[in-house]
Amino acid sequence: MVLHKKQDLGAPPPCIVDGDLVIVYEQFDAMKAVYVDAKQNIQSRFGCFPMKEWVGKPFGSRVCAKGKSQGWVHILAPTPELWTQVLKHRTQILYAADIAMICSFLELRPGCTVLESGTGSGSLTHSLARAVAPGGHVHTFDFHQKRTEEAASEFARHGLGELVTVQHRNIEALGFPEELHGAADALFLDLPGPWNVVASAAACLRPDGVFCSFSPCIEQVQRTCAALAAAGFTAPRTMECLLRSYEVHSQRITCDLDKADAAAAAATESKKRKREGSGGPAAEGRQKGGYSSAGDGREAFIAAS
Ligand SMILES: C[S@@+](CC[C@H](N)C(=O)[O-])C[C@H]1O[C@@H](n2cnc3c(N)ncnc32)[C@H](O)[C@@H]1O
Repeated sequence: MVLHKKQDLGAPPPCIVDGDLVIVYEQFDAMKAVYVDAKQNIQSRFGCFPMKEWVGKPFGSRVCAKGKSQGWVHILAPTPELWTQVLKHRTQILYAADIAMICSFLELRPGCTVLESGTGSGSLTHSLARAVAPGGHVHTFDFHQKRTEEAASEFARHGLGELVTVQHRNIEALGFPEELHGAADALFLDLPGPWNVVASAAACLRPDGVFCSFSPCIEQVQRTCAALAAAGFTAPRTMECLLRSYEVHSQRITCDLDKADAAAAAATESKKRKREGSGGPAAEGRQKGGYSSAGDGREAFIAAS
């Protein structure tokens, strides 16, 4: 996993070794996680790729399919953001927009200690680990045994073993372990009943530590806020992160304001006549240009060039 260590700055990109995780980028909406196995070929819609040819190549390389297909893919270094897009879902997961907001408002920095529950599919945990590296630690807990085992094996395989400890524990019932009391700079919950954990969170956080809980329902948020107030937490904020992509299309239009005024007048007249049960000059106007209606009675004339 790419961790942006200080000594990496300006260094050439690392090269792929057998067993590495790579993100195979086929096109903008098609990526997959692959553990390099030099003895295997990998089949994709762009052809058959012998993975032995990837070993020794820098991450980010374009690699070609063997044979006549002439297809190619890029083999990218895994980042937490890419991992979130390709990981196997064992649970619902957090995505980049929420993760970015969470890491920012938790005020994470290298050296921090963070507590997390539940681990789930480890989507957030990868970003937490990167944010606290080097020198920090993420203690993450889940009450689902198999999930903790799978997550632990992934963290180790992705080079995060030193940064992340996964434990099997029912956090709502038992709270965080006593040895973590007073140890956390930040604490994050993605649990069905986070209010049950607030007292334990208060015991674990250092003075000025930050608590964050992610809940899909406002009733959960209200209960958690009430528990936070009762436990002496200050300055709670409730936030929602809505991500909106713009679709950009180009279109050439010219707008003649005189014609627009005339058209608006004609449209008003036409409406009036329609109401009175007859046609009128506005019908002719519509042949030449077009009416754009705001749906609220305002109309403009737009002449396409
Ligand atoms: C929605 S998932 C978390 C997803 C995670 N944030 C991610 O980005 O991959 C919620 C997890 O909380 C765990 N969980 C639910 N109740 C729990 C409890 N009382 N103690 C510990 N873990 C719990 C579930 O097993 C599940 O894996």
